[in-house]
Amino acid sequence: MNILSVETSCDETSVAITQDGTRVLSNVVLSQIKTHALYGGVVPEIASREHVEGITRVFDQAIAEAGIPKEAIDLVAVTQGPGLIGSLLVGINAAKAFAYAHDIPIIGVHHIVGHIYANATKQPLEFPLLALIISGGHTELIYMPEHMRFERLGKTQDDAIGEAYDKVARLLDLGYPGGPKLDQLAHTGTPSIPMPNVALDGYDFSYSGLKSHVINTLHNLRQRREAIEPSDVASSFQTAAFKQIFTQTQKAIETFHPKQLVIAGGVAGNQYLRTHMHTVWDVPIQIPPLEYCMDNAAMIGMAAYYQWQQHPVGWTFDFNGHARMDFIQKAYTEGEEVIR
Ligand code: KG4
Ligand code: ZN
Repeated sequence: MNILSVETSCDETSVAITQDGTRVLSNVVLSQIKTHALYGGVVPEIASREHVEGITRVFDQAIAEAGIPKEAIDLVAVTQGPGLIGSLLVGINAAKAFAYAHDIPIIGVHHIVGHIYANATKQPLEFPLLALIISGGHTELIYMPEHMRFERLGKTQDDAIGEAYDKVARLLDLGYPGGPKLDQLAHTGTPSIPMPNVALDGYDFSYSGLKSHVINTLHNLRQRREAIEPSDVASSFQTAAFKQIFTQTQKAIETFHPKQLVIAGGVAGNQYLRTHMHTVWDVPIQIPPLEYCMDNAAMIGMAAYYQWQQHPVGWTFDFNGHARMDFIQKAYTEGEEVIR
């Protein structure tokens, strides 16, 4: 089954062609990082406009690189949320237009489900599995007894880990996007600055306390005109941020005995995590190749395949070519409930 998938939930315009939930034939990602770097973060209105400018080109390139004719596409899949509404709408409308023009069924895919299935690009998922979602908007532990069944064990009570990374990186003037830059800087420092030890019951996370602690520490040091070694701040923050991830995930591994731990989301690209995870967790670990950690359409195509196997119902179009809103609305709600 050939799937054309579309992802425009934030600041990447991406279209992919995937096959049978296992192979990626093409995955074109047009990043807007340079534009948003000028403002120190994603500006939603600008993101939507750049999606509009880029989407047709990205469609054409993904189809050309896949080397298959449009007629060979069996299903269209598009990220339906969560994300920036203006950005999502560009991808959803482009996908709807393509599906209608070529008379192909179309389905909506939950963005986080896509991140989990990014791992299927490497090898098949094995169940039951535990999924650790670490991104700019999410920090969650999800138990999956089988394909497309999600039981959320815990989530952040306040900020997401990626959000905290971006905030601390901004305080250190590292520029945007801060996560990878802070990760890099931390390798040259030592975790010498005391950080709060966050130890929540259950499987929840919390990052606002850690973030505020770094803000206050930097403020106090600057007021006392004491020297600040940014790499030490980065290293101390990073060590504390992952201590929580390591502890909560380990508890879930001991309780649920998953066949594998699957890591997903932009923060899965973190080098400190990749260096330490095998010594911390004694369970087979799947982590996506770097190119599939950040937002991309191939992960949406992977998830779409398994979603279609279980629920082969697409959106329907009326005689004017409009996808019926009740179906879209339903898909949105279902998407949200997948995890919530
Ligand atoms: O999954 P993603 O591309 O977008 C969301 O759905 O949120 O994740 C982006 C987040 C940003 O907060 C970014 O700073 C963070 O992932 N990130 C990292 C690293 N690479 C990306 N955080 C820490 N270390 C990294 N190497
Ligand atoms: Zn994402």
